[in-house]
Amino acid sequence: MENHSLFLNRSEFGDPKNHGNVLSIQDAKGLLDDWVKNEKLKVHMKQVAHLMKKWAEFKGYPDQIQYKWYLAGLLHDADWDQWPDQHCKKIIEELESRSIDPEIIRAIASHGHRYFGVEPVSEMDKMLYAFDELSGFVHAYSLMRPEGYQGMEVKGVKKRLKDKTFAAQVSREDISDASERAAISPEELIQFVISNQADADLN
Ligand SMILES: [Fe+2]
Ligand SMILES: [Fe+2]
Repeated sequence: MENHSLFLNRSEFGDPKNHGNVLSIQDAKGLLDDWVKNEKLKVHMKQVAHLMKKWAEFKGYPDQIQYKWYLAGLLHDADWDQWPDQHCKKIIEELESRSIDPEIIRAIASHGHRYFGVEPVSEMDKMLYAFDELSGFVHAYSLMRPEGYQGMEVKGVKKRLKDKTFAAQVSREDISDASERAAISPEELIQFVISNQADADLN
């Protein structure tokens, strides 16, 4: 039986009148520093944030939109370290109390529909879901390669995806489901992560 203990049981997030409200970079990173003691988790969020920003840039979206995508990535797991049993709920409530743009909050709420019961709908929702597991997977692969990201190829990543013992905690099901929902092939997503992830600012 699936565990639904993290289900959010709601479908509206934030207040439409807060459209355009964002956290400053200082406030966002301050929140991470307060809430997240696990350095690896911070790296994960910064990598996903970078991929989100780069994708929005690749799509030609303006800076304010790129920044919203970045924030959704940066904060999506902020509550996982200290409140795993309230994962997603806690950060959503925090961002709602700070009157943050509902699109950012909704993207975070739908980053794992099997766990939170919220379907990814917008492009930002879908891309956060698509990058989340894949980013961690490619990072794990880079750590086992002496050359890291250098010379990494899509086929190498795909081979590891087939090896169920490698980074076993990464859900292959979520990776393919997310690629289908985003209507972007796994190959294109993997190539995008390979090409961009090494440049993420981890400070
Ligand atoms: Fe998560
Ligand atoms: Fe994540």
